[in-house]
Amino acid sequence: MPPNIPSDALAKIIKELLSTGPISASEFMSLALYHPEHGYYRRGASQWGFDGKDYYTALDLGPLLGEAVAACLHQVWLELDRPDPFTILEPGAGRGWLGRDLLKAAAGDFSHAIRYIHCDDSPIAKQEAIQALEPWLNSGQAHIKNQDDKTDAFIGAVISNELLDALPAQPWRWDGERWKREALISLDGGDAGFTQWEAADPGEAGDWFSQCAEGGLQPDDGSIWVESLPDILETICKPMQKGLFLAIDYGDSAPKLIAKRAGLRRYLKHQTDGNWWESPGNSDLTADVDLTRLTYLLERQGLRPQKYTTLGHWVCAHAPLAQWEAEWMELPSTERAARKQNLMRLTLPNAMGDRFKVLYARR
Ligand SMILES: C[S@@+](CC[C@H](N)C(=O)[O-])C[C@H]1O[C@@H](n2cnc3c(N)ncnc32)[C@H](O)[C@@H]1O
Repeated sequence: MPPNIPSDALAKIIKELLSTGPISASEFMSLALYHPEHGYYRRGASQWGFDGKDYYTALDLGPLLGEAVAACLHQVWLELDRPDPFTILEPGAGRGWLGRDLLKAAAGDFSHAIRYIHCDDSPIAKQEAIQALEPWLNSGQAHIKNQDDKTDAFIGAVISNELLDALPAQPWRWDGERWKREALISLDGGDAGFTQWEAADPGEAGDWFSQCAEGGLQPDDGSIWVESLPDILETICKPMQKGLFLAIDYGDSAPKLIAKRAGLRRYLKHQTDGNWWESPGNSDLTADVDLTRLTYLLERQGLRPQKYTTLGHWVCAHAPLAQWEAEWMELPSTERAARKQNLMRLTLPNAMGDRFKVLYARR
């Protein structure tokens, strides 16, 4: 089948599973995104970009996020006394564009010290990353690894852009007496609808939401919970002996997510809605990142997280703005305008500036 034709194979598998009972939203998200053959991030179609695609990330806006990350990592390299190699591990690296942009921007001895590791099991992402990273793969400065392959201990950085929002997440609600989780009961709807809130044991999530709800839990309060987050953080942070953890993603504090009753979102052809059960395998599913929990879990990993900040503030604080301005004066006017637009879209509050956050932690 040509890769861009939607498949209903996953819907058939889900209907079979439904014949034995409801499917929790996180189990559904796991299948919809990562089913080995039909998952959104496992089938052969590219989903990133503007026309005809489902969603874009900060990397589609131009090279400035990669350039800002390169400047920030250069500073960390200097503070660590210029380690060589300086390894940069990027889990959820997608097309490898962040790696490409930062490798292009790095200069001098720092650029020679970098060893960039792309980590993402999406077949189309790997295919696109091989093209984007070609010069550095050929020179041995970049490497593509499988998610389950062990990473040797290193000094350097773990960076990610929009990895954590793509981890299977479960919405929970407090009904005043007990916890309920959202589950799929039918893909076709009907009298009972598509989903239901079913009583279940929330495990640690219940205590977390109770502690984090400002003013105490009210009926219908709740948020999303990523069960796999501690294990994934351990896998990606453990090999880093010294260096920087940098996550760029959308999300908020736990109290804010509880107050807004965070749930799953679906992205399809640049439209977003809460109908996470529709078009499994053919649309993206995502959830806000609980940045309070991420901070807490990083501390448990032995890192020292700083208070997260908005992407707009972070770019203004870390990007070499004066240097960029001088360099852009040398560019043809259309390219100069494109750089300015890239900067505005990363920093203006109603573009990506406020919605996206940056969490910075050192070890
Ligand atoms: C929203 S995309 C972001 C891609 C890229 N960082 C970008 O900004 O364009 C999330 C990516 O994370 C990958 N992913 C999900 N779980 C992962 C894990 N445990 N380890 C590595 N990659 C993962 C998916 O395959 C997907 O390509």
